[in-house]
Amino acid sequence: PDTLRGAGALINLPIGSALTPQDIEQWPSISGGQFSVVTGANAMKWQTVEPNAPGVYDWTDADQLVAFAKQNGQLVRGHTLLWHNQLPNWLVNGFDAGTISKNQLWGLLEKHIFTELGRYRGKIWQWDVANEFFTDASPSGIDPTNWWITALGESVIPQAFRWAHEADPHALLFYNDYNITGEDGTNAKFTAVSTWVQQQRDKGVPIHGVGTQAHLDTQYGFDPQRFQSDLESYGKLGLRIAITEADVRTNVNNATDQVPTDSLAQFAQPFEYSAMLQAAISVPEVISFTVWGWTDYDSWVPSTFSGEGYACIYDVNQQPKQAYYSLLKDL
Ligand code: XIL
Repeated sequence: PDTLRGAGALINLPIGSALTPQDIEQWPSISGGQFSVVTGANAMKWQTVEPNAPGVYDWTDADQLVAFAKQNGQLVRGHTLLWHNQLPNWLVNGFDAGTISKNQLWGLLEKHIFTELGRYRGKIWQWDVANEFFTDASPSGIDPTNWWITALGESVIPQAFRWAHEADPHALLFYNDYNITGEDGTNAKFTAVSTWVQQQRDKGVPIHGVGTQAHLDTQYGFDPQRFQSDLESYGKLGLRIAITEADVRTNVNNATDQVPTDSLAQFAQPFEYSAMLQAAISVPEVISFTVWGWTDYDSWVPSTFSGEGYACIYDVNQQPKQAYYSLLKDL
């Protein structure tokens, strides 16, 4: 096969990408042809779907994503229901100013989950229910300064999973986070997250899997063996695993053409992509491998990490890079 999705199909591993509306409109043959599972880069976040006022919804981008997936025979990963970022201003400001009470905030969250999951019931394969609650500290734990935790306490996370399961009983529900498979060169967060997920499941909380974002940086000394053994450890807990946001960033000369400062990055990057995919293939509990955007043109990296870029498998002109071929050859 000469596509990632075609090659992935032969070994039963859906290969995915996050998509922006522009990826869908401007490059449908790559967005539809190379991938068999898609995630909205922003389309399903709370700020996107209910931006201006409670109860006033905008499903434009989410509907577009789901329709595109259907048209192209793709699965969908829903992303994300409970996160401290990209929340509507009316929600955060309202609660912080005291015009939304704690009880009302619980009610708004419940309504958010039931409305969004209800709209797409049966059409979403996996949901990232909760995103990025653990600290990077060692030892790690749930971040006490997280907006949701200060607002409602730690029980907000299991409650979100319970509501999501009730709203769409067939969707696989994930806890999603970064640096939980050693991407930063430590295992602090892996230990904290795996312990917590196991405790929650022992209490009957419907968490079906762990999503490892897998945002790599060529400066951090990625350890493929640790990545694989962490995946195996999650698998041994009876969890499904999804690689949810893979990319490999490096220092670049400028954000426009994103040429690596150190030319060795051109070798490190395909190696690291390939190592992640090989680990994913070798661990049977891994059910999907998703990159966080396929083109450097609209990657989240340059605007988030100053001076970095070149993170994706296609360049700024939508031409496949060595990283693309390194994935294709592994499948
Ligand atoms: C990013 C999007 O790609 C950007 O377009 C947006 O401006 C910020 O969010 N971890 C996540 C994703 O879970 O939701 C983030 O997506 C990238 C980091």
